[in-house]
Amino acid sequence: MVNILGFTFKNPVIIASGPGGNGKELSNYIDLNRLGGFTAKTVTLKERPGNPPPRIVNVKAGIINSIGLQNPGIDKFIKEDLPFLESLNTNIILSIGGDTKSEYLSLIERLNDSKAVFFELNLSCPNVSKHNTNLEHDSDAIYELVKEAKKISKKPIFIKLGSNLFLEKIVKRAIDAGVDGVSLINSSKGLKVDIKKKRLILKRGIGGFSGPAIKPIALAAIFNIKRKFKHLPIIGMGGIFDYKDALEFIMIGANLIAIGSGVMADPEIPIKIAHDLENYFKNDSYEKTIGCALEGFYDR
Ligand SMILES: Cc1cc2nc3c(=O)[nH]c(=O)nc-3n(C[C@H](O)[C@H](O)[C@H](O)COP(=O)(O)O)c2cc1C
Repeated sequence: MVNILGFTFKNPVIIASGPGGNGKELSNYIDLNRLGGFTAKTVTLKERPGNPPPRIVNVKAGIINSIGLQNPGIDKFIKEDLPFLESLNTNIILSIGGDTKSEYLSLIERLNDSKAVFFELNLSCPNVSKHNTNLEHDSDAIYELVKEAKKISKKPIFIKLGSNLFLEKIVKRAIDAGVDGVSLINSSKGLKVDIKKKRLILKRGIGGFSGPAIKPIALAAIFNIKRKFKHLPIIGMGGIFDYKDALEFIMIGANLIAIGSGVMADPEIPIKIAHDLENYFKNDSYEKTIGCALEGFYDR
């Protein structure tokens, strides 16, 4: 059992936003109710068709995706996806995305009365903006967004960030605005060249790089945040493929751990991790394990 902001999770394992879609397909392969939670794919106000194919490229130690926030838009999501998510016997986190503050706020209003436990504001999708920049680089904009979101939201607000150079400053501003937690990290940036065609493989050139290669980057990002903001709840993700990966995230300060690319490699991975962690925590306290590897570092 895991308690976070007054909500109980059966175990610390959740599905990260994206690779699990909105749950229906994945539920054909695994019992989602065995997990601590499920994060829905980022939804936007209007439907988004996503980027042109190819959308996924395999590289050593990970994948590069160029999905581009494909989603049905909020109306269809509420009609066709939310009822299934709400029927699950696990915690639901709703991920929302937008181009402007008012889009995020409208989405919160539309989803405020859902059964979800948290909102996760996706501020860091590497696949959507024209110049491969996004809101996560603008700490003033994040401050304003979180402040407004907190005024209207009936649920705790997490913000999802990448491994940004100014991560600590951004998180500090978000905390000042009242943010409840952070999700770290979104996919990093990656690129692959087709050397036969002498061309970039993805139509946008750069895509979101995820999987085993980003695990140390994710751990470093969480480490930097946890040592500065000891009590801030953290959902950790980036290259978690087994319970030992998950333990590293918990020991560095993650309260929950999310599986993204791992689900695409093998849908059973989250269940295996939940099972293995349950065994591990028979002999060790989950609460005391959170951040234990940082003992002695806080004060430096
Ligand atoms: C195919 C794919 C789609 C994704 N879509 C989203 C998304 O819609 N919203 C989001 O916040 N993150 C999205 N992500 C990022 C993941 O949630 C996660 O943060 C990232 O992939 C790192 O974790 P991993 O290495 O376990 O995949 C996506 C990742 C992949 C691979």
